[in-house]
Amino acid sequence: MTSYKELGLVNTKEMFAKAVKGGYAIPAYNFNNLEQLQAIIQACVETKSPVILQVSSGARKYANSNLLRNMARGAVEYAHELGYDIPVVLHLDHGDSFELCKDCIESGFSSVMIDGSHLSYDENVALTKKVCDFAHAHGVSVEGELGVLAGVEDDVSSEHSHYTMPEEVEDFVKKTGVDSLAISIGTSHGRTKFKPEQCTKNAEGVLIPPPLRFDILAEIEKRIPGFPIVLHGSSSVPVEYVKMIEEFGGHLPDSVGIPEDQLRQAAKSAVCKINIDSDGRLAMTAAIRKVLAQKPEEFDPRKYLGPARDELKKLYMHKNINVLGSANQA
Ligand code: G3H
Ligand code: 13P
Ligand code: ZN
Repeated sequence: MTSYKELGLVNTKEMFAKAVKGGYAIPAYNFNNLEQLQAIIQACVETKSPVILQVSSGARKYANSNLLRNMARGAVEYAHELGYDIPVVLHLDHGDSFELCKDCIESGFSSVMIDGSHLSYDENVALTKKVCDFAHAHGVSVEGELGVLAGVEDDVSSEHSHYTMPEEVEDFVKKTGVDSLAISIGTSHGRTKFKPEQCTKNAEGVLIPPPLRFDILAEIEKRIPGFPIVLHGSSSVPVEYVKMIEEFGGHLPDSVGIPEDQLRQAAKSAVCKINIDSDGRLAMTAAIRKVLAQKPEEFDPRKYLGPARDELKKLYMHKNINVLGSANQA
């Protein structure tokens, strides 16, 4: 058993309380490799932002869970070395079973998500409560989910979304003991968050998606005032990256994300954690494609992973400062 405290990590309790009060959201950035982690830590130290390092079960399979938790320990030391200690959470993204959550808690994660959103309401309550009871005995925070996002949620896939029902949230929070709640108000995972026919087009032909359901968010906040809310599927899918990827040989038709002004608006409410993975994938891929296309003789991975890391850092700094409002909150 390794406690997250031994790794220098913190749980989400204090972080979320401050974020809800302060009208900003903590960035939850997914990582599976060294360059992503370097970029996240560099960006969050430079902007003095707290951070949630997010690991999916797919990332655990890809990178090895021992390596990942030791990388998180290294990230805390790296931040210190860069000259500013920021609070760092290591969080399991979309945990799908009690056993997986338990394994993460015992190996040093300071926060876990149990995603029972695909189950019946009663099954979701029972599973989430079981995880909370175990996690809380170890000081670990738990995120639950009510409502289903469209798109693919790691191993959990859903053809159609259904919005969170505000009338369920109070009972769910009370019965399970969760520390935060992920909700569905129109965001979704991946780079195609809406079908083109759901969108309008602006003068430049860029797809403009339907707005998030802020009315549902307001209803939820009314029923559980000040309770920490989480938004998944919150990449903005920047047009510049999609264009750059296509310019250098990629093909990403119908890419559309959540506009930044809507995320900024959400961050001012009780939404205190915003999950971003796809934008990082786009930034990295765009930078790597550019180097490989412009310098066909290049074969040292550092020569394309380095620029990818720099692009990622730029993206994360922009998010912290201009979208989430988490800069200078550490
Ligand atoms: O919500 C899902 C995250 O983007 C993680 O994706 O399962 O491909 O690592 P992944
Ligand atoms: P995006 O695919 O919009 O980046 O969402 C990531 C996410 O929700 C991770 O849990
Ligand atoms: Zn997610």
